[in-house]
Amino acid sequence: MRALTWHGRHDVRVDTVPDPEIVNPRDAILKVTSTAICGSDLHLYDGYIPTMRAGDILGHEFMGEVVETGSKSTLKKGQRGVVPFTVSCGDCFFCKKQQFSACDNSNPSETSDASMMLMGHEMGGAFGYAHLTGGYAGGQAEYVRVPYSDVGPIVVPDHLDDDQVLFLSDILPTGWMAAENAQIEPGDTIAVWGCGPVGLFAIQSALIMGAARVIAIDHFPTRLELAKKLGAEIIHYHQANVRDALNEMTGGIGPDAVIDCVGMESHGLTIDNIADQVKAQLYLATERPHALRQAILSCRKGGRVSIPGVYGGFADKFPLGQLMEKGLTVKTGQTHVQKYTKPLLEMIEEGKVDTTFLISHHASLEAGPEMYKHWHDEQNSYTKIVLKTAMAKGAVEETRTPAQEIIHREMSNA
Ligand SMILES: NC(=O)c1ccc[n+]([C@@H]2O[C@H](COP(=O)([O-])OP(=O)(O)OC[C@H]3O[C@@H](n4cnc5c(N)ncnc54)[C@H](O)[C@@H]3O)[C@@H](O)[C@H]2O)c1
Ligand SMILES: [Zn+2]
Ligand SMILES: [Zn+2]
Repeated sequence: MRALTWHGRHDVRVDTVPDPEIVNPRDAILKVTSTAICGSDLHLYDGYIPTMRAGDILGHEFMGEVVETGSKSTLKKGQRGVVPFTVSCGDCFFCKKQQFSACDNSNPSETSDASMMLMGHEMGGAFGYAHLTGGYAGGQAEYVRVPYSDVGPIVVPDHLDDDQVLFLSDILPTGWMAAENAQIEPGDTIAVWGCGPVGLFAIQSALIMGAARVIAIDHFPTRLELAKKLGAEIIHYHQANVRDALNEMTGGIGPDAVIDCVGMESHGLTIDNIADQVKAQLYLATERPHALRQAILSCRKGGRVSIPGVYGGFADKFPLGQLMEKGLTVKTGQTHVQKYTKPLLEMIEEGKVDTTFLISHHASLEAGPEMYKHWHDEQNSYTKIVLKTAMAKGAVEETRTPAQEIIHREMSNA
């Protein structure tokens, strides 16, 4: 089969690799129809996530049709399903608490040692995301093996097309959990750093959960415009001092909760960020947490800090004293995707959440390497890329998404 494979920093290829096979009775094999590139894939692309190996198959946002099932899979051939990026057994102490991304059974023993050493405990498994999290082959491929197929995948109805449900695999639940972790109370003002797909879904979720105001921060005009369209007020961080602006907008109090949807690769020419960048270039540090530092300093006293952005190790100049003295609560984590797929699918069916507005590009799996480069280099005009395999049914929608409208208008004005 054809698959996108990682070969080192900024080196993604499309290779012919062996087809996956059923290994365990609970496995299923899916023929992938749609798969997306995530901001998390950029951390792999930039070489910041340890334990990747040359030839690893990428991709943790995917869906497709069931073509083979193990004897204990509850899926049936021909069903269409979306697969959570977290590989979770459904039976362990953590899965029973619905902390699916902490699953204790899904990281095979030959790869769990690395995470034991780095994190203190074995991490749960994830598709297409390094050997620290199980070394599972990802879904940016024509076929994929889905372990624990009796608990992970959600079967989707035929009247919803791929683009409407694909993001149940990750970014939609991630934005939702990010807002949930901000413990929003009616009337709250929530500030969101980063208007990538995760930030945009966090903004949408925060408004659904009753936030009175959401303030979105980024520097890409198209992404900020999408945030504004959702109902957020915006701060372009090149045009304003973010902390001053937030104080001014909240009568000096600060936002009730802050959400970091940027993660370990913060942009910005501030002194702390330049120092982080130099250290990262010299492999002396993995984290560039400028946005998180700013979020903690901006948050009101007694407020909440939600961190869906991915971090990989130890952060320098972390404002621990500020966190403590201001009495902030922090909630973070890889998303417990399986906990959210069903309620969010219901909300998609009822038209309560919009899932397609942020898609800017559709491309073939074969164009994957080129799309990774665009996703990395041109974040203003690439707001979300969906790759379609040759197996995808039907033509892609002819009408433009709001993201495509905004980008088209910007390009015509340029
Ligand atoms: N917790 C989870 O389970 C989970 C799941 C998916 C993604 N993620 C993580 O969420 C983060 C966002 O993902 P994404 O797909 O939206 O990525 P993305 O790269 O598309 O978006 C990140 C956005 O942050 C903005 N940004 C950078 N520096 C900033 C700063 N200093 N202030 C404000 N904005 C800034 C960028 O301009 C960009 O628009 C990534 O770290 C990703 O790994 C976590
Ligand atoms: Zn993702
Ligand atoms: Zn488990």
